[in-house]
Order: sequence, then C-alpha cells, then structure tokens
Amino acid sequence: MQRTQVGIIGCGPAGLMLSHLLSRQGIESVILERQTRDYVEARIRAGILEQGTVDLLRESGVGERMDREGLVHDGVNMAFANRLERIDFQARTGKAVMVYGQTEMTRDLIESRLAAGGEIKFSAPALAVEDFDTSHPRITYEEAGQRKELGCDFVAGCDGSHGVALQSVPEERITTFERVYPFGWLGILADVPPVDDELIYANHERGFALCSMRSPTRSRYYIQCALDDNVDNWSDDAFWDELRRRLPEQAADNVTTGPRLEMSIAPLRSFVAEPLRFGNLFLAGDAAHIVPPTGAKGLNLAVSDAYYLATALAAHINDDQGDLLDRYSDTCLRRVWAAIRFSWWYTILMHRFDDDPFSHRLQVAELDYLSRSEAAQTSMAENYVGLPFDATFA
Ligand code: APR
Ligand code: PHB
Repeated sequence: MQRTQVGIIGCGPAGLMLSHLLSRQGIESVILERQTRDYVEARIRAGILEQGTVDLLRESGVGERMDREGLVHDGVNMAFANRLERIDFQARTGKAVMVYGQTEMTRDLIESRLAAGGEIKFSAPALAVEDFDTSHPRITYEEAGQRKELGCDFVAGCDGSHGVALQSVPEERITTFERVYPFGWLGILADVPPVDDELIYANHERGFALCSMRSPTRSRYYIQCALDDNVDNWSDDAFWDELRRRLPEQAADNVTTGPRLEMSIAPLRSFVAEPLRFGNLFLAGDAAHIVPPTGAKGLNLAVSDAYYLATALAAHINDDQGDLLDRYSDTCLRRVWAAIRFSWWYTILMHRFDDDPFSHRLQVAELDYLSRSEAAQTSMAENYVGLPFDATFA
C-alpha cells in the first residue's frame, strides 16, 4: 500500500491549495481526483479573488500569471430602480478584488504542484475514508479499474459538494444547516467585451442580473431563472434581450452580444456541515459548505480553509503543536459562517422572490440606504473584499 503524510481527496482549489501550502512546509501529500486533468482544467467556475486569496497566492509563489493577466477591481456597481450606484472598495477598505477565473487559478496550481514533484492521481476516484478515528487512516480508491488504498497520517476531504469524505462519516456525528433558494442562475460565457470596467449586480423586478467578466474580451453574465428552467429554452438572442431588460438604460445600451461559449443553470443553496474534523479526517471547501454565488465566496472559502488546515497540520507535524488542529474546525467555521451570512444577505437583497411587493420595497429602501451611507458601504465592501484570515486561530 502506498503511503503519504496527507491524503487529499479532490483536485479543486481547496485540495490544490492545501497540497501546495503543505509542500512549502516540507510536508508530502498525494491528491486523488476522480476526473481527468483536461476536465478539471476546462471546468468553468467563478472568477473573483478576495484580497486575502490574492495575497496568499502571491506570497506562496503562484501569483505570477494572476498578476499579469488578472484584473484588479477597486469597486463594484449596484443597479436598482434604474439607478447605477458604485461601491468603492479602495475608499471604504483600502483593499480590492482580483478578477481571475478559478479555471486559471486551478491550472496554475496544478502546474506548480507537478513542477515541484507533487503527486496528483487523475481519473482516480476515492471510494471511502477508512479508520479515520485512528492514527492510520486510509483512503480506498480506484485506479485503472483496480481497487487500491492510500495509507495516510491525515486525510483531507476536499472533494466538493456530495463528496465521499463527508459520506464516510456516520450521520449522527454531523450536524447540517441548509437554505435552498427558490431560483437558479442562468449563465452565459461569450467572447465579447464586458459592459463595464467593473461588475454590475442588478436588482430588477424581472429578476436579478449580474455582469461579470474573465478578461477585457471575455464576459460572463448571469440572470435569475426559475429552478425548473432549462438552457434549451434559451436562444442566445433571448438571453441578451432578457439581460438588457434587467439593466439600467446606460448599461443596457453598452451590452455587446455574441455567440455563447457556454450556457448553464446553477441552483442556489447555502449549506454547512459541522464539525470540520472527525479524528484525523478534515473537511475543507465545498465538501463542508456551499454558498450561493452572489457574494463570490465559494472559491475564497476553499482557499481560506486550505490555509487554516495547512497551517494547523504544519504546526502539528513540524513543531509538535497539536492545538491549532484542535481549533481548526472552530476557527474555520467562524469565517465560513461570516461568508454564509454575507452571501445569504446579498442574495436576499438582490433577487426577486415570488410576487411580494413589500419585500421588493424593502430591497429598494436598503439599496437606497447603501447608496447614501458610507457606514453601510464599508460593511458591504469589507465583506466583499474578504474578511481577514485569523492567523492566531483565536
Ligand atoms: N474522488 C476524487 N475526487 C473527487 C471525488 C472522489 N470521490 N468526488 C469529487 N472529487 C473532486 C471533483 O471532481 C473536484 O475536482 O473533488 C474536486 C472538488 O473541487 P471543487 O468542487 O472545485 O471544490 P473546492 O476545491 O472545495 O472549491 C470550491 O469550487 O465548486 C466551486 O463554487 C465553488 O468556487 C467554489 C470552489
Ligand atoms: C463570475 O464571474 O462568474 C462571478 C462573479 C461574481 C459573482 C459570481 C460569479 O458574485
């Protein structure tokens, strides 16, 4: 049986970042990924990096292409009642966010791990985590049609939503919290210049819309849709028409249309599984929590979990200090719940719920307040650019 110090299930941002940060501390890991490398590197995901994520990528030596190709955004626009109001992140917090696709970040991390001699087994689905309450946990997995085992000192479940790591834990040891939203996001990716230099989040009576981007020539747009909607119901023209209807005039006039590179529908959900530690099995990223995409927090939480876990494992393995591992779950969950709260608040504020004129008036009143109050803008901005990592695990 192959052995490693940290067995990592999942080659998404959480697993990759964990493996990368551990290797910088001299700790060896093996990543098991059920998909092929091509699949993982082509997957279209979110694209906003918080300041803390950007700093961590840079400091740990994987920020070079991000700094070359990423777009620094100092603010964001909120559209409502035919108005367009800007929240200035720099003025309110002295920080910014970076537009850089998760797809690109994933590619950079895979390349860096492989160049550093790290091991990633692609097309190797984990089946279960065994013996995680002992000091010799094992991951059973499949490779080239064969059932194999990876012996580990520690296991990290970074296997995304509905992963096998969490499923390996008896139900009675897990507490879950969930909110399902009664709508989805219909997204389009197209090689057209973005409507604005910055993102626009729009609250409109026909439903939410978001104008985002991947580069000065590639745009990513979303519109709120019914949960039972289907991409087959949407021609490119129908999508562009609906997007324009939901934007204030000045922005709508600036929409450049083009053929889709991709179109998909994603449901919106908030979910947390607690705790994040079961003996020597640790959960990180989407494996333990899901946020609706409204706050752009999913990727950033995966990165901050990986940071906390790598820090705690290094303290234990290299300095014989186990207390950070003991505090991993609580420390992480504090930041997770802050992001769950923010993305829930932003989702409730910006979407159209079933015809409820009272709620809609409240939304407009809150957006109006946000546009006038520096205090309210500071609160929104500090959450959007990302709350600081708690390096002390206090
Ligand atoms: N065995 C091996 N790999 C697995 C298994 C399994 N049984 N199950 C899932 N995986 C892999 C998936 O194929 C995926 O590559 O685990 C990886 C999980 O990666 P992500 O879903 O990207 O999750 P995470 O790393 O936590 O990053 C969260 O990704 O889903 C987005 O919006 C989310 O931005 C957030 C980020
Ligand atoms: C994206 O660019 O895909 C994106 C941006 C901001 C969000 C969600 C998604 O809040």
